[in-house]
Amino acid sequence: MMQNRLLTPRHIVRVVIVFVILTVVTQLWYYGPPQSLASFGAPAGSHPIDHLIHEAKKTQKELLAKRTHDLRSTADAYRKRRGRHPPPGFDQWFEYAKAHDAVIVEDFFDQIYHDLTPFWGLPAKQTRQHAKQLPFTISIRNKEMQNFTNDKNWMSIWHGMVAEIKDFLPDMDMPMNVMDEPRLIAPWEDINKYVETSQKSRNIVPTQQVIKQLSPLDVDNDDLGPLKLDFINNGAYWDTARVACAPDSPSRSVKAAEDFTGPPPYCTDETSQQCRPDASIWLSYKGYVSNWTAVKDPCLQPELRETHGSFVQPLSQSTTRSLIPLFGGSKLPMNNDILIPPAMYWAKESLYATGDTHGAGWEQKQSRVAWRGGATGGKHREDNFSRFQRLRFIALMNGTQVRQALQASDKPETPSFKLQPYQKYLGTAGQHMDLGAWLDSIADVGFTDLLCSIKHEDKEDHSCPYLDPYFQLVKGIPLEKMYDFKYLPDIDGNSFSGRYLTFLRSASLPIKATVYSEWHDSRLVPWAHFVPMHNSFVDIYGILKYFIGNAKTKADGKLVTENGHDKEAKELALAGQDWANKVLRSEDMLIYVMRLLMEFARICDDKRENLGFVGDLE
Ligand SMILES: *[C@@H]1O[C@H](CO)[C@@H](O)[C@H](O)[C@H]1NC(C)=O
Ligand SMILES: *[C@@H]1O[C@H](CO)[C@@H](O)[C@H](O)[C@H]1NC(C)=O
Ligand SMILES: *[C@@H]1O[C@H](CO)[C@@H](O)[C@H](O)[C@H]1NC(C)=O
Ligand SMILES: *[C@@H]1O[C@H](CO)[C@@H](O)[C@H](O)[C@H]1NC(C)=O
Repeated sequence: MMQNRLLTPRHIVRVVIVFVILTVVTQLWYYGPPQSLASFGAPAGSHPIDHLIHEAKKTQKELLAKRTHDLRSTADAYRKRRGRHPPPGFDQWFEYAKAHDAVIVEDFFDQIYHDLTPFWGLPAKQTRQHAKQLPFTISIRNKEMQNFTNDKNWMSIWHGMVAEIKDFLPDMDMPMNVMDEPRLIAPWEDINKYVETSQKSRNIVPTQQVIKQLSPLDVDNDDLGPLKLDFINNGAYWDTARVACAPDSPSRSVKAAEDFTGPPPYCTDETSQQCRPDASIWLSYKGYVSNWTAVKDPCLQPELRETHGSFVQPLSQSTTRSLIPLFGGSKLPMNNDILIPPAMYWAKESLYATGDTHGAGWEQKQSRVAWRGGATGGKHREDNFSRFQRLRFIALMNGTQVRQALQASDKPETPSFKLQPYQKYLGTAGQHMDLGAWLDSIADVGFTDLLCSIKHEDKEDHSCPYLDPYFQLVKGIPLEKMYDFKYLPDIDGNSFSGRYLTFLRSASLPIKATVYSEWHDSRLVPWAHFVPMHNSFVDIYGILKYFIGNAKTKADGKLVTENGHDKEAKELALAGQDWANKVLRSEDMLIYVMRLLMEFARICDDKRENLGFVGDLE
């Protein structure tokens, strides 16, 4: 019987199928997925970037599916995500957003809640009094903007931004950070305690108990005494900052580095002693950024203490450990500042505003990479310049330096970088290419100012003794001419890079590396709207090889390329531009700030736990 059954044709087919499946599974087990299976689920191609782009499109679709169109569903989405009623004024906020054709997705406002949640753990009175006491405050009384102390920096621009929406806002004081650098770093333990307290008050109060009107702002009768703040102005910023990392995070107990000579360490090798063995697994997919939030977080990557100017030697620092309300344009993940759109993004006449100029159509652009700017990022010196991100990046893109490194074949490195294994970042095809000549053909990058820390007494020129062997000044490119290039890397300066929004709005493709957070972070999907790059830049050659392919400059100066993914690059650049024109407009900045300030006003009110909008429920 048994034998008979086994011998029926149906069973033979079954046995064969099981055998084939088992063979494939064991092969995969021993050898890992072959290239053609690696991007399982991707529509075409086998490159890891194909897979990442495919996944990003899915993420973007899921995000858009959460879009709400009327007040009821918007308030509902709010309650689900925030665990409270929306703040008073929410209906006006919604009308404003709707009237300005905003794409409303509750997740787009996540940064507000990340920044404000700890303040629910402090007494309302304390926060509103501190807001009044700090210098450089934007204030509203009876829908009128109050006079402000102008520091000639950003104040008047931000003042103008808030003035646009004053009619929708209650009385309030909004202290501004007028420095480039973020200012607040409370210990992780403090913030954790405040957030825990906040969770306890997180509650959908029964509708009948909800108070719909804010109390009058009565700061003059508060009596907390003068505000005394201590500021940390020196010492290793890394040591100041890591106190804000979770106790079990990789960086919390790693002391600031002391020796900054030579190329920085790389954590791309899973077995490297300097790195956590598990780090690269969740940060990257086959060498390319897959978790952008994690990649930007210094608490997860101790090596950033010696590879980013913000930690090696920031231009200036002035940090307090107290949680006070302070609004500013960008911050590190460990800072407690409250984010608003940077003044540079709002200002119509800023250095980076190009109005409606977005350059030629994709086909008219050169398949090359352009970067110009100053060697900012902090105070670099002879012994540590190789650790500043912009200097590392420009060196890495310099064909001559790469050629020199490759000629020293036992140790392919220069003071600023160590070349990473070809197999990992260029695929086997990369082994046979002339990397130096390739970079010469595709890269037009360089500094327009070296910001040398040694002043020449005798010379008026811009030379810099310790940088001259590796960098030379190049002629600037006006921003609108940058758009004649398809690829625009964007690297942090002294803090965030103010040109990013302009790049996103252009029809060229931004390639972004940063450790800074901005108001718009939850609106942008990496690999759907821009190309994310690791802060070590180990992936830059692979990224460019994927998009541009092989490249050669012909005798007549024309660039010819082959085997790239130009179609994918164009699609990404245009999707990013289209998205920026939908969710990063000036109107979207106002909608964000209005929501933020309505929340802030509630946090400063003694009755905050019962305050809310319930108009949609009545
Ligand atoms: C605000 O500034 C204007 C013009 O400088 C001045 O006339 C006015 O008195 C100021 N208001 C207050 C409250 O200081
Ligand atoms: C990205 O990394 C963070 C750690 O910062 C983690 O919490 C999150 O779950 C990761 N996301 C994914 C999709 O793996
Ligand atoms: C950078 O190098 C200079 C000397 O060239 C040194 O004085 C300075 O302390 C260094 N910075 C750090 C953070 O070590
Ligand atoms: C590229 O590197 C070479 C060699 O280090 C250097 O002489 C040259 O100035 C660099 N070019 C630029 C644009 O910085």
